[in-house]
Amino acid sequence: MVNSSTARPEWDVVRELIRGRGPLTVLTGAGASAESGVPTFRGAGGLWRERDVMSLATPEAFREDPRLVWEFYQYRRREVATCAPNDGHLALARHQSRHADTWIITQNVDGLNRAAGSTERLIEMHGSLWWTRCTSCGLRVYNDDLGFDTPPRCSACCGMVRPDIVWFGEGFHEGVIESIVALLARGGTMLIVGTSGAVYPAAGFAAAARAQGAVTVEINLEASFIADDMDYVLRAPSGEVLPYLLTEP
Ligand code: OAD
Repeated sequence: MVNSSTARPEWDVVRELIRGRGPLTVLTGAGASAESGVPTFRGAGGLWRERDVMSLATPEAFREDPRLVWEFYQYRRREVATCAPNDGHLALARHQSRHADTWIITQNVDGLNRAAGSTERLIEMHGSLWWTRCTSCGLRVYNDDLGFDTPPRCSACCGMVRPDIVWFGEGFHEGVIESIVALLARGGTMLIVGTSGAVYPAAGFAAAARAQGAVTVEINLEASFIADDMDYVLRAPSGEVLPYLLTEP
């Protein structure tokens, strides 16, 4: 990791860019919540009961063993319930409250952007741990009950309820991709924060925005798989970089 004091000149360039360059689009991944204590997927926290957590994030896994997958998501909800937004989430929310053209696209399902105050201009593209969906009638319900260890039944049709997460191989919620495509066409600056760039379509967003005139900036402790799509790279924790970039004089 580059020492932050040696990296600062580049941080200043990016800060000026954000101030002078119109719309700001921010894509976040698990690293943006790491300083809140939420484990990342491809780091040391990628296992649960010895299983690769990504093998549980599939419709097939839920069909085979709904109780196991529900228990895994209840475990994640309990884990996240003890976490609070970090300085990066808070800096983003503050920036949004002053700049109507700042949007956040997050792959995170932890709800921490919302908890920090980003209740608008936020796209939770992989869904949310705090919502459930009926597998029969599709009814979506906010649910922060940490008590159930088996999938509950739908209050409308008695169908089995699942986490409202976009699992591997599934389509996105209606309108999500269209909204993102429009954001990527705006130009301005795009920050890509704490994502390894391993999962599409999110991994393609930086290249798409750059091809349409945006300046792209990676904020990550390590080089992501999409580092070549970046104009600037800041190698430091997002909870440190985002407040620096977004704090106004
Ligand atoms: P990953 O776990 O793949 O990547 C986390 C990234 O964050 C890594 O590149 C780390 O270097 C970086 N990182 C860790 N701590 C950081 C910090 N404090 N500041 C900045 N960067 C830091 O997570 P994602 O890229 O989000 O999908 O994974 C994408 C998707 O794959 C997830 O949304 C999830 C997963 O399977 C679903 O659940 C559907």
